Amino acid sequence: MMQTHAGRTAVITGAAQGIGRAYARELAQRGARIVVADLAPADETLALIAAAGAEGIAVRADLSEPESAREVLAAADGLGGADILVLNAAIQPFVAFERMTFDDWRRVMAVNVDPLFHLCKALLPGMRARGWGRIVAMSSNTYQLGVPGVAHYVASKGAVQGFVRSLSGEIGRDGVTINAIAPGLTRTPGTSTGPQDELGLFQQAIEGQAIKRTQQPEDLVGALAFLTSDDSAFVTGQTVLVDGGWAHV
Ligand SMILES: NC(=O)c1ccc[n+]([C@@H]2O[C@H](COP(=O)([O-])OP(=O)(O)OC[C@H]3O[C@@H](n4cnc5c(N)ncnc54)[C@H](O)[C@@H]3O)[C@@H](O)[C@H]2O)c1
Repeated sequence: MMQTHAGRTAVITGAAQGIGRAYARELAQRGARIVVADLAPADETLALIAAAGAEGIAVRADLSEPESAREVLAAADGLGGADILVLNAAIQPFVAFERMTFDDWRRVMAVNVDPLFHLCKALLPGMRARGWGRIVAMSSNTYQLGVPGVAHYVASKGAVQGFVRSLSGEIGRDGVTINAIAPGLTRTPGTSTGPQDELGLFQQAIEGQAIKRTQQPEDLVGALAFLTSDDSAFVTGQTVLVDGGWAHV
């Protein structure tokens, strides 16, 4: 594979499994050093990074805690400083609004939205000083579709799209871009252990999509590679829907 990311250091949150793991593998194959930041052990991801011939390190932390950003910054600095930040960690619980508690709501916002604040605060100064940076945050096409039963999650993914739109205007002059990727329903450990199969959502997705098969994490790596490379220097503040042609902006 072309070493499009050689010499770069990428922080990828939630990369112990699922989409984040596929991202870590892809950027490692493209020559980047990887910091995996996750609540869960990331041994399997680190093995994939090593198999790609790249350097990797794991930070085990709850990223909803503000202090975790300092640990991530220290790990990235140990690998030369973060050039790329992929905000991918999230929780995706289904609960009808009638039964949703304020604790449910707060937890989703703390995990899915707060790390955008803490990690951008921690890692942006280094990117600005180096005059180059790429930030990609994971949204979801559920924001475009307005899927019921996950109001807190959909609100958090709308927050991601708003955040990248606004922050792009403050950091573009420093050579730093920020964009969102919005996948459709993707087969991952997260969606395989939730109620998605029981609710028939994978079948509904195939019916709604232009491309008639279940989305896999590997379907997202091309967009991530582009948005974290030199090639996307003039693309910022955008949400890229990678969902097999299901939702529309
Ligand atoms: N899979 C889908 O259908 C789908 C669709 C649209 C958007 N997305 C988004 O893509 C991203 C990845 O989704 P996935 O399905 O691969 O997720 P997943 O549930 O399979 O994996 C999420 C990872 O995040 C980690 N994580 C969760 N809470 C954390 C915390 N507080 N601190 C640190 N790490 C934490 C988990 O340990 C896990 O490794 C998420 O942002 C998700 O919302 C997924």
